[in-house]
Amino acid sequence: MDLTTRYMGLRLKNPLVASASPLTGKLDSIRLLEDAGAAALILPSLFQEELEAEGARYATSNVPSPADYKVGPRHYLELVRRAGRAVDVPVIASLNGVTNEGWISYAKLIEEAGAKGLELNIYFIPADLAMTGQAAERRYLDILRSVRTAVSIPVAIKLSPYFSSVGNMALALQDAGADALVLFNRFYQPDLDLAQLRLLMNLTLSDPGEIRLPLLWLAILAGRVKVSLAASTGVASADEVVKYLLVGADVVMTTSALLRHGPGHMAVLLDGLRNWLASRDFDSLEPVRGLMSQRKLKDPQALERANYIEILQGYGQG
Ligand SMILES: Cc1cc2nc3c(=O)[nH]c(=O)nc-3n(C[C@H](O)[C@H](O)[C@H](O)COP(=O)(O)O)c2cc1C
Repeated sequence: MDLTTRYMGLRLKNPLVASASPLTGKLDSIRLLEDAGAAALILPSLFQEELEAEGARYATSNVPSPADYKVGPRHYLELVRRAGRAVDVPVIASLNGVTNEGWISYAKLIEEAGAKGLELNIYFIPADLAMTGQAAERRYLDILRSVRTAVSIPVAIKLSPYFSSVGNMALALQDAGADALVLFNRFYQPDLDLAQLRLLMNLTLSDPGEIRLPLLWLAILAGRVKVSLAASTGVASADEVVKYLLVGADVVMTTSALLRHGPGHMAVLLDGLRNWLASRDFDSLEPVRGLMSQRKLKDPQALERANYIEILQGYGQG
């Protein structure tokens, strides 16, 4: 069965990608993920704050900046190098930041360390009430343009769902040089501890109910943008993988399920995908991808307002 796919210019043996997590940060689990069939790996992010802390240490000791000396948070560059040597599948690095200053030079060092691609996670909450939506969007575009100028490897943006117009933002990112969009970044929202009256910042793993928002936007964007599309969030079983491919994802990423069940779960997802395709007499991914995208639906309005009214009015009528 031909499961090959293309993602941000890379040819992958199948559409399953291990997204950034502690599992992709260690060589033993990286190898296990490859053994279980992962077609690519996203390393955990190198954070702008880590780079700035390192930069400040160099500044106070009168030593040239890490970018000049090409040392930086050495462990990260070392991880990129070692991961690249440990597995045959493409290793994609991840930078996580909020401004387009200073840390961008690390994109170049990451490329030199052998990363096959770079994912940008612009984890940014516009808590400044004076910041307009346009200014918030510009920040994403500025960072992307700076990174794009710095490297020649493909660049993906892990996108937030919180834009007034996700589709238009996708086009703007495409014009600014993105090779892929990852839908979506999962923002870790706080909870409250009512006994201690303090913020709870604990991390919860995702569940399959969360695929609906990325599913909607993938369905809308598929076939209408030139960039590759990655589905991310909520993959627990092969069902979610198939759904994401049906709406038009080029690759499907997973983290929570791997943390819950171990790296070997990648093989369960892959077998499930193969079985589903075989049960429908498909011998490759090609005819499946985007089969249920908005462009292919007989009733494209089904994803928009008309259907929303019907759903609300139909509630409880069986
Ligand atoms: C423990 C943990 C660590 C993560 N670390 C990163 C990270 O360093 N960079 C990043 O972009 N995303 C990170 N993520 C987010 C995942 O890559 C992924 O986008 C998110 O968990 C949604 O996918 P899922 O529903 O399959 O878990 C992390 C998630 C978890 C649970």
